[in-house]
Formats: sequence, structure tokens, C-alpha cells
Amino acid sequence: MTFRSRHLLGIEYLNPDEITSILDKADQYVELNRSNIKHSEVLSGLTQINMFFENSTRTQASFELAGKRLGADVMNMAMEASSLKKGETLIDTALTLNAMHPDLLVVRHPNSGAVNLLAEKVNCAVLNAGDGTHEHPTQALLDALTIRRAKGRLHRLSIAICGDILHSRVARSNILLLGKMENRIRLIGPKTLMPTGISDFGVEVFDDLREGLKDVDVVMMLRLQKERMDGGFVPSEREYYHRFGLDKNKLSYAKKDAIVMHPGPMNRGVEIDGTLADDINHSVIQEQVEMGVAVRMAAMELLINARHPKKSADTI
Ligand code: NCD
Repeated sequence: MTFRSRHLLGIEYLNPDEITSILDKADQYVELNRSNIKHSEVLSGLTQINMFFENSTRTQASFELAGKRLGADVMNMAMEASSLKKGETLIDTALTLNAMHPDLLVVRHPNSGAVNLLAEKVNCAVLNAGDGTHEHPTQALLDALTIRRAKGRLHRLSIAICGDILHSRVARSNILLLGKMENRIRLIGPKTLMPTGISDFGVEVFDDLREGLKDVDVVMMLRLQKERMDGGFVPSEREYYHRFGLDKNKLSYAKKDAIVMHPGPMNRGVEIDGTLADDINHSVIQEQVEMGVAVRMAAMELLINARHPKKSADTI
């Protein structure tokens, strides 16, 4: 297995072989997670600290469960929003934690680049659980695993990423990953929520959902990231739903067997119709959550193996 990086900071730093290795390993963990005894000793004796400087439900729970199922000692730090003063505070926190000898640090932070900065200051493996509008690598990996299992491959697919692209680290990591695996990517959303110059990244851009969804294999919806907006990016949620909300009618422009994805948290009736989100004939939203635990187990194992090759004999 060829895993070069000391950290998992972004899809930017992974090559297609490394992406495939994580997904292959994660496939094995899906089986473990579906069995009666969901336990392995791969990380036994190791310490994992989760530091979430920003709210999270599924990502934090998923990382915690992943570490526990691999036998690590897992600690969740309660990072109060009030202690968030950036710069020195972040570095000081990192140095303090580093002195306790953790083996894995899982970090979510509202500032783009903060997790990279922190990784430079500590000795252990750092996993980026989302930094500002920059990257969210494990989300893109779990999305990739969900797509690969549903479609039987992860190349030459037509994939639409729809909604608030501008503020979305999920979109950014997915564009990088799906591009590296040679898929056709379409970005669909209002012009106000589309980063300038994005078409230089080898993607097609649409501001009409029906037109953009024509014959795609995968439809990935994104949340309107209101906490990152400091102005009126959309006229109203009603108007937004009318034009960019996914419902059965708009989905009918995609391929018949198209899958519908959403990283969560979902705003039903804003970017997606609630009934469609629950329609198991199209929606793989629950599978995404399931794949999240497996992908994080795989990523943590591969990072630890890259640092302590001896541990690699002990696999599932
Ligand atoms: C995403 C995030 O936090 O970047 N959620 C997640 O991790 N599942 C997307 C979002 O907040 O909309």
C-alpha cells in the first residue's frame, strides 16, 4: 500500500492510487461494521483526540465511532466557540495537546488553512474534518465510496454538484477527487453562489437545474451555507427552492437510475424535497452516513501504518 502523506489534510495531496487504497480498505470495514462484533485492535494502545471548533453532528460522531471500533482511546475536546481566537490560541492548544502524545488528531475549524497550520506544529497524524470553505477530505472519500458501490465504478460518470458551491468545502473536495478519478463534473447553482473562474477547473457550469441535470448519473445536493453568507446571495428560500430545489420533476431530467446524495445537514424544502430525500429508489443519503464510519476507519489505519509500519501486521 502506497500512502505517502503523514496527514490527511485535503484531497489535493492524494493521488488516484491512494484514493483507491482508502476506498478498498473502507469496503472491508463496511463488512466489519455490518457484523455483530464491530471491533478491531488496529489502533489499540493509540490515542485519538477530536477537536471540533465548529458544530458537527455526523462527522464528529463518525470519527468517534471509527476510532472506538478500531480500539483507540478516543477523547472529544469541547472546544467552546468563545475560546476561538485563532492564531496563537490555536497554536497554543495544539502544542498543549501535542505534549500529551496523541497519535491522531481530528480537527474541524471555521478558518480555511487552520488545520494545515496546526499539522505543522504537532508530531502526530492530523485529519482534517473540515476547514472553512477549503477542504473536507473524508466527506469526499465517503461520497466516492458511496458512488463506487452504487454505480460499480468511480470513473467516466457524469456527476452534478448543485447549490451553494461558493461556500462549500464539500464541493471543493469532491471536485478535486472526482476530477482526479476522471469523471465529468457539472456544477449547478445561481451565479451568486458560483466561485469566479471555476470553469477553469475542467468543470461545466449551469445556472438552470433541469438543463444541468440532463443525463447525469449522480446528483449531489448541497446545503445553503447561511452561516458563511454576509449578504443576500439568494432572494428568498422559497424562490431558491423553486429554481434550485431538487424534486421528482427536476430529477426526471437525470438518468433513470441516477442516485441522489446530500452530505447533511439537510434543509428539507430548501435545497431538496423531503419525500425525495427519503425515497430509497434514488436517495443514498443514509448510505453516505454508513460509508462515513468505514472511510474514517480506513483513513486512520492507513495513516498509522504509514507512521508505524509494524502495526500493519494487525489488520482486520
Ligand atoms: C458539511 C460540512 O460541515 O462541511 N457537513 C458534513 O460534514 N456532513 C456540509 C454542511 O455543513 O452543509
